[in-house]
Amino acid sequence: MSIISPEISPFPGVSPDSKTSVSLAQVWEPIAGEMIAAQDLYRETILASPERNYIHEILTSSGTHVPEEFRLGIVERIGRHFLGTEGKWIRAGLVLLSAHSFGAHGPSVQKVAVAVELIHLATLTHDDIIDEAETRRGLVSVCHGWGNSIAVLIGDFLFSKAFKLLLESRSIASQEALAVATGQMCVGEIKQLRHVHGFHTSETEYLETIEHKTAALMAASTQSGAELAGCCPDTVTRFSRIGLDIGMAFQIVDDILDYTSTLHTMGKEQGGDLRNGKLTLPLIHLLQRRPDLLETIRASEYSGGFVEELRKHMLEEGSLEYSYNLARRCTGRARKSLNDLRESSKNPDGIDSLLALSELILSRDS
Ligand code: IPE
Ligand code: MG
Ligand code: MG
Repeated sequence: MSIISPEISPFPGVSPDSKTSVSLAQVWEPIAGEMIAAQDLYRETILASPERNYIHEILTSSGTHVPEEFRLGIVERIGRHFLGTEGKWIRAGLVLLSAHSFGAHGPSVQKVAVAVELIHLATLTHDDIIDEAETRRGLVSVCHGWGNSIAVLIGDFLFSKAFKLLLESRSIASQEALAVATGQMCVGEIKQLRHVHGFHTSETEYLETIEHKTAALMAASTQSGAELAGCCPDTVTRFSRIGLDIGMAFQIVDDILDYTSTLHTMGKEQGGDLRNGKLTLPLIHLLQRRPDLLETIRASEYSGGFVEELRKHMLEEGSLEYSYNLARRCTGRARKSLNDLRESSKNPDGIDSLLALSELILSRDS
């Protein structure tokens, strides 16, 4: 994730008042060691396939010839594919930083952080089937490379690994928070599907959808971090709300970037929301001002050139700015809460990093 410069601003016409000069690596500084340990555990977890070894053993001990491609195992091959690229680790970072702010570190915290990343990866693998996406994180998506059936199963496989880590963490509170959030994500995706190609989603319906499909997991991440640190119920609730607000802002910015960024910077095709008939905040705002555009949109077959035309209308009508300001209101709420918590925290550098992260989310270009 890099910081935008005025020349390549993905938010044309929008001038973020406080541009942050912090990098994601700097944000992770207070938990750098924990992050490395979590990423090692992630790699190990993704590549470990005891099920495959077991099958292999049965086959080889009976003298059956096992072709190389089966010996390697499709799960392991896709696991290596996943490791060929990196996510931003924002959700894991939210767990680690929230826990660190109130003094919790170590294997249980790391296991929950990795479980959150695995749940995220599983939902993305399934989401790419729903959205017929060809790329993810700059690589071919599992559904496009291996087919939908394999993508369903790999997603399920990732969930199973997340469950196992959550059990090992022995944190009942995290298990509960993540079970609820995973259910909410499904509800969010279903809500969104109901509206696809309808082009009549209201702003309230949009906000509800993104709260479920994206913000819920981020809320569960900060909530779990606070629970792992043994915070009191009031602080846990506040952390949950902080994650929720950061998550709302994250998705609104994602939806702006879908109109303003490129495959190169985002690692996934842009203009995809329109192509999938998905009405997100910038377009909801535009259609409120220019309802006459609806027929043109329907007739456009959502071509790339049309996305460009829409972007121009969005600039004229202030739709990108409106969306960006709403994202900024969300991070503003999170920042206020974080500032309130700073005094009672054990490690204020964790709170400072969460503050920096909320700024970085606004100015991200990927
Ligand atoms: C992501 O939703 C899916 C979940 C968070 C469950 P989107 O479809 O809007 O996101 P991208 O654009 O594919 O990443
Ligand atoms: Mg989707
Ligand atoms: Mg998608």
